[in-house]
Amino acid sequence: MKKRIVIKLSGRIFSVDNIKILKDYAKFLVKISKICQPVVVTGGGNIARHYINHARSSGADESSLDELGIEVSRLNAKLLIYALKHKAYPHPPTTLQEIRYAVDSGLIVIVGGLHPGHSTNGTAALIAEKVEATQFLNATDVDGVYDLDPNKYKKAKKFRRIELKTLRNMLLREDSVAGGYDLMDILALKIIERSKIKTRILKADLKILEKAIKGDSVGTEIIF
Ligand code: UTP
Repeated sequence: MKKRIVIKLSGRIFSVDNIKILKDYAKFLVKISKICQPVVVTGGGNIARHYINHARSSGADESSLDELGIEVSRLNAKLLIYALKHKAYPHPPTTLQEIRYAVDSGLIVIVGGLHPGHSTNGTAALIAEKVEATQFLNATDVDGVYDLDPNKYKKAKKFRRIELKTLRNMLLREDSVAGGYDLMDILALKIIERSKIKTRILKADLKILEKAIKGDSVGTEIIF
């Protein structure tokens, strides 16, 4: 059996201007599937945020907004499935149990969100636990975890490794409304901690992802 790697892909790569990126990701996944079985969790990105903001201003409750986010993340998953053609399990699984069956097919598995109240980061951690992934790569729009917001502070320093409890303290200061989760969330950290999942937060960039899969030290590694 090939080792399984769970990759959370930020929803940002699915923006309409980025059609080529999707093809590049598909090629990349086919390439790495020779050495591992990728399980990719797609985020909702700006499109999810757009829908969530609209529905919120119409007074929809938070769990309905989460459902909207999940639907959009599944649409993004489908885009990647279509780009992968027969190399991918043909639809995004909707439960953890179904993910188990999907990985048993040996195909590349692409999945969106699962449960309201989570983020795709939390969901990806649960999936990594379920499929006994050897690595969980959280590919996002920053190249790791910084001590300060690198977009606001020039002196911000990147951690090559960060203790899980330090990261948890940093995250406790963030909000958790629909569309508002960031690098990781508390659920994701809880799962990573209880199952000691090897986790890295890194930039959604194919060269960097490839390095991480080969075991290079890129982005920020979470240590226990
Ligand atoms: P995310 O915020 O996780 O998507 O999901 P994203 O675009 O990948 O985030 P970034 O860009 O990497 O930061 C979009 C929304 O969908 C709902 C939540 O409301 C979430 O904010 N969602 C997603 C769930 O409720 N459950 C899930 O399992 C996944």
